[in-house]
Amino acid sequence: MNTTAKTLLMLGLLAAAGVAVVYSGVYDVAADVPHTRPVYAVLELARERSIAARAGRLEVPDGLDDPARIRRGAGNYDAMCTGCHLKPGAQPTELSRGLYPAPPDLTRTSVPVAQAFWVIKHGIKASGMPAWGRSMGDEHLWNMAAFVRQLPQLDRAAYDALVAGSEGHSHGGGETEGHSHAGGDEATPHDADAPHAHDGAPHGQGAPHAHDEAPHGEGAPHGHDEAPPAAAAEQGTTHVHADGKTHVHPPRRTHADDGHAH
Ligand code: HEC
Repeated sequence: MNTTAKTLLMLGLLAAAGVAVVYSGVYDVAADVPHTRPVYAVLELARERSIAARAGRLEVPDGLDDPARIRRGAGNYDAMCTGCHLKPGAQPTELSRGLYPAPPDLTRTSVPVAQAFWVIKHGIKASGMPAWGRSMGDEHLWNMAAFVRQLPQLDRAAYDALVAGSEGHSHGGGETEGHSHAGGDEATPHDADAPHAHDGAPHGQGAPHAHDEAPHGEGAPHGHDEAPPAAAAEQGTTHVHADGKTHVHPPRRTHADDGHAH
């Protein structure tokens, strides 16, 4: 065999081995089991190169140091991002701990502004990072990128002041229609900070959890009954099954034993 034939044979064998690995199901896609080192290295490099190439082509607008822009970005960040990326002085959340790849703690990670803008706008495949450009105009995305760039310098008081001084969660026209955050009690299905708002959903047989009107805390993806079972019964939130039986959920359903403050 000449060299070319040998090379082709080797490549063929490698490809066959790759296919065999994929089909056998041996590779673990579980989010609680890290990638193997080589896979991690390849994915990491692919992400870095992909973002760098695209962010490098962006035209960064002037005035991103303008305090007014940073302030505007703060309100949206606080409403849409803290569940995964945290805020100064906050504890990790269920989302920030459970996602893999893990969302970077943006209070400790400094991200160049064009890179931040690109990632916020387009999201990252096969990760929890959504493409916010689907619902928000570039102006708002740059404001958030400008805010994200400042974030590692902010303590909690400075952070809170910026959020309070912002226009709250406003997309100012770039938003999807019907987006309203007036109160904590309405269940807008696309609330970024309340991904599972089950308020008012009929509880049929297949609904193991009682989701009541309890306010959804930040980063708490599930709205579980806030009240202990007895109190829940007093409030008339007893779970009625389709077969007519009623029952109050045992404490383990409230997740009260795993560190949740629901
Ligand atoms: C559901 C969880 C989730 C939400 C909500 C979320 N992100 Fe992310 N974000 C991620 C994950 C996960 C990554 C890392 C992806 C990776 O490493 O491949 C990420 C990456 C990023 C990065 C890239 C950081 C870097 O070092 O390049 C930025 C910037 C970012 N997110 C900003 C935001 C902003 C701003 C918001 C709110 C508008 C937001 N994210 C909302 C999960 C989330």
